[in-house]
Amino acid sequence: MKLRVPPRIGVVGAGRIGVVHACNLAARVRHGRLAMVADVDAAAARRLGDELGVAWTADPDDLVDGTRIDAVVIATPPPTHRQLVTRAAAAGKPVLCEKPLAYDEEDARAGVEAARRAGVPLQVGYHRRFDRAYAAAQTRIAAGELGPIAHIFASMRDAEPPPESVRRRERLVFDATSHDFDMVRWLAGEVVSVTAFGTPVGARLADAPGDYDSILSVLRLASGALAVVDTSRTAGYGFDCRTEIIGVAGTLRVHAPHVVAVERLAQGQVVRDHTLDFLDRFQDAYVAELEAFAAVVGDAVEPSPDGQDGLMATRLAAAADRSLRLGAAVVLGSDASREACRRLQDAGT
Ligand SMILES: NC(=O)c1ccc[n+]([C@@H]2O[C@H](COP(=O)([O-])OP(=O)(O)OC[C@H]3O[C@@H](n4cnc5c(N)ncnc54)[C@H](O)[C@@H]3O)[C@@H](O)[C@H]2O)c1
Repeated sequence: MKLRVPPRIGVVGAGRIGVVHACNLAARVRHGRLAMVADVDAAAARRLGDELGVAWTADPDDLVDGTRIDAVVIATPPPTHRQLVTRAAAAGKPVLCEKPLAYDEEDARAGVEAARRAGVPLQVGYHRRFDRAYAAAQTRIAAGELGPIAHIFASMRDAEPPPESVRRRERLVFDATSHDFDMVRWLAGEVVSVTAFGTPVGARLADAPGDYDSILSVLRLASGALAVVDTSRTAGYGFDCRTEIIGVAGTLRVHAPHVVAVERLAQGQVVRDHTLDFLDRFQDAYVAELEAFAAVVGDAVEPSPDGQDGLMATRLAAAADRSLRLGAAVVLGSDASREACRRLQDAGT
């Protein structure tokens, strides 16, 4: 099939994030355009398609296999990703798949392998890499400005749990913490062990038995660095995503920016706003992520994060999940990482 310029992109999943991607492709992305939407919920597909003036279908295969699109954005729940990625790969369509790739490593690997076998690029939806502040931090670290990294503190807190329909299936460590796992690897390299602690405090637990609302994860990196990742969905005051990266030659802080640059000063007080949700905080990153995907489809760049990054984030989330249940550190699979862990412990780091 001859590729159109700009590429015609289809979105599968017309829920919370699918609507954002479809609207961005229809209105804000310059180098790709929305061509079709699909959702097994026909009413949701029709609503979105009609609203944005594109074809819609309740059969995702119809979108993925058809000739009306050049590439696919998958914005459905994680348990469906393996099948949809495999289907898109078989149809020769480049894929941007939302995170996490899957809720277990085997499903994630199957999708990555299917794309690799078909020679189809696979990008994974860790949009943080496209945020200007995080990208600037990564550029400085890659340039060596911080020297060796000693530790990272990362927080991502939602004001409240997601809607009931999402909450019932969601697993915090895969759906939320994995963003920071990807970010830590991107900034500072591979992780060799994970220890995670979780608590349901503040949760409406009946909605999601066995899941947590606050998780603290401690990661040991192959370099010897440590990372502490704080994930919460009961912060109340807003969406808070901040990171501090401490190196021997300098420290970087990525702040949670304010929506409107106005402060109200009163006696003994400074009052300013706070982003309420991730859609607000990362609205430009979602557009940049799709611009990057359009460039991937046009063969201009390699995907980042790619399928392997998505697989590693799922592997780390699965390790953290195991640690939560075991109450102990989980050393990542390979002999090399076990050896690195032993070496670091022997060195007293
Ligand atoms: N990157 C981000 O910031 C971000 C934010 C939210 C969600 N997500 C991810 O996006 C994905 C979707 O999350 P959501 O919150 O939008 O979920 P959602 O429940 O709001 O929407 C999912 C939609 O997919 C549809 N669907 C389910 N199975 C399908 C299938 N097989 N084929 C076609 N449509 C199907 C559902 O009918 C629903 O409309 C998840 O992987 C989630 O982790 C990412």
